[in-house]
Amino acid sequence: MEVTGTVRTESGAPVRGGLLEIWNANHFGRYRHIEDHSGLQLDDNFFGMGRVLTDDDGNYRFWTISPGAYLARPDIGRWRPKHIHISVSGGSSRLVTQMYFPDEPNNATDPMAILMGDGFKHNVGKPYGTPDQNVDEGFRFDIVVGGRNATFLNEGSGSKGSRYCSTLEPTPCIKIRSGGCARRSLHGPASNIRV
Ligand SMILES: [Fe+2]
Repeated sequence: MEVTGTVRTESGAPVRGGLLEIWNANHFGRYRHIEDHSGLQLDDNFFGMGRVLTDDDGNYRFWTISPGAYLARPDIGRWRPKHIHISVSGGSSRLVTQMYFPDEPNNATDPMAILMGDGFKHNVGKPYGTPDQNVDEGFRFDIVVGGRNATFLNEGSGSKGSRYCSTLEPTPCIKIRSGGCARRSLHGPASNIRV
């Protein structure tokens, strides 16, 4: 699939040269991550993460595999709907969000989607037809960093202190305490919980 969009500030100014880092589960709902212990099938042809820069007008585009939903909380039978994680870095700030997909049955019970309330619509990609024969579907996902109509951002991002540990880190990381930094885990406290 193809995902395109524009990154803007709350005043509508495009974020030029913004770094987007993208990661999503494969078709089977499996992350290529050391802490994914689901045992689901890996895809030899899908790395699962990538980076792209916005152009002078704040536009971006990337291709990825349509992610699968996954059982994030086996203990209570809670599924996470298909989604794509996107980190946006521009200037001195970093924000982390997720793009959801329309009409997914698990959207209604997703805790983060519920927390967004009416703002959830800002985090759902809008489907469009793509003329590229190599791409079966496209979704537009515009990102606003700040203001009343901001894209919902995960906890631990933005002004709460997210930053990069190192440009050499293969996966995004977040500051977990003052002066400390750890690679962002795909899991919660229990080893079988994924976000
Ligand atoms: Fe996820």
